[in-house]
Amino acid sequence: MLLHLFFSLFVFLTLIDNGNAGVTSSFIRSEFPAVDIPLENEVFAVPKGYNAPQQVHITQGDYEGKAVIVSWVTPDKPGSSEVRYGLSKGKYDFTAKGSFTNYTFYTYKSGYIHKCFLNGLQYDTKYYYEIGNGDSARNFWFETPPKVDPDASYTFGIIGDLGQTYNSLSTLQHYMNSGAKSVLFVGDLSYADRYKYHDVGVRWDSWGRFVEPSTAYQPWIWNTGNHEIEYMPYMGEVTMFKSYLYRYPTPYQASNSTSPLWYSIRRASAHIIVLSTYSPFVKYTPQWKWLREEFKNVDREKTPWLIVLMHVPIYNSNVAHFMEGESMRSVFEAWFIEHKVDVIFAGHVHAYERSYRISNIHFNISSGDPYPVPDETAPVYITVGDGGNKEGLAARFRDPQPDYSAFRESSYGHSTLEIKNRSHAFYHWNRNDDGKKVKIDSFVLHNLYWGQNHQQRKSNQNRLRSLILNRASTSLL
Ligand SMILES: [Fe+2]
Repeated sequence: MLLHLFFSLFVFLTLIDNGNAGVTSSFIRSEFPAVDIPLENEVFAVPKGYNAPQQVHITQGDYEGKAVIVSWVTPDKPGSSEVRYGLSKGKYDFTAKGSFTNYTFYTYKSGYIHKCFLNGLQYDTKYYYEIGNGDSARNFWFETPPKVDPDASYTFGIIGDLGQTYNSLSTLQHYMNSGAKSVLFVGDLSYADRYKYHDVGVRWDSWGRFVEPSTAYQPWIWNTGNHEIEYMPYMGEVTMFKSYLYRYPTPYQASNSTSPLWYSIRRASAHIIVLSTYSPFVKYTPQWKWLREEFKNVDREKTPWLIVLMHVPIYNSNVAHFMEGESMRSVFEAWFIEHKVDVIFAGHVHAYERSYRISNIHFNISSGDPYPVPDETAPVYITVGDGGNKEGLAARFRDPQPDYSAFRESSYGHSTLEIKNRSHAFYHWNRNDDGKKVKIDSFVLHNLYWGQNHQQRKSNQNRLRSLILNRASTSLL
């Protein structure tokens, strides 16, 4: 009876707080085969020239956004690990020297994987850069973010579970037309582990070429998923994340992390925390200890927006991967509330879903208080595992839709988060099938820290005003 009353109250509060019940989209996408694009397709084309650099990608190189890590592969011989760069095209006043490495995966031998660190960059500046030599040299550019500042506007894209199918290509092309400046990637990159033996490495290489039209020009902030684990004892490969760790460097040391798999950066007005679902995270593990310390470094006066990336969603009402995020929820959710995380992006489930602001931190093994409740101090949880890989869509949602689920749809797409200032950001999810940028699910995200402080300041001002008025009226008497 008590339980029934509680549940009724929860539903009532949800309706009041959110104004409407959640939506399960009735959109049915036309079938499109979830098959990988053949290797001979032009999207995987090897650049012209002997030993030309390929699979070029950049990521943020430091904590504040004044450094970039450039990485690429030369297939035939090491060649140069140097990056020449400058402020105008073809005029490279600066040179940075990098290093290279390679690895084997069963019978596959990787090319030479270069990594070069460009430091001391100016904020809000377009840099041109060149890698490779002679006829094989290649030229690209990137833009540094604005200085870390509470009102710095900036647009992030969010992509997950991308793979290398025709649907992946559609997502990538849609994203590249979005105007976003940097990708927050929520894990599962190439799906190369869906292949066997030699082809695992081959599909990492093809994926690197596939995403290069974006990754060479703007930083992708990387995170791992289960498809990066690559624990494959049948071919003697048991080192977790081997291919990923060789190929996709992250600036983890800049945030005092001891692993490239979890780290954080500050970019414009955002503090972004990357968590590794498939690394130990329970109490006293390195990741747990690091996160506890990193939350202390978050300064909402400088970076109002606190964003967390993880692979497995904590709140997911799809049949696929249901409850898989429960272990991380039980460990970290209370911290997310305490530190007023604005939004948490995840992938893994091949569909789209957005929650209302809810929390379940009162639940413990003996409290008998199991339901998530509306909580205006909690993050919004968004699942964007809909990049378009060969496993296809997670088409079945649980019925009925839970009260905490605001919108869900089983389609391919990507999201953008357009931060306007310290208090407001525009969010939207874009479905690929519409052929152009159509905002299927969008809302204004109010900053949790500044929204509340703003209200507090307003009430302080009102109190002060009434105090002055009272004194003035008393002195008149
Ligand atoms: Fe996954």
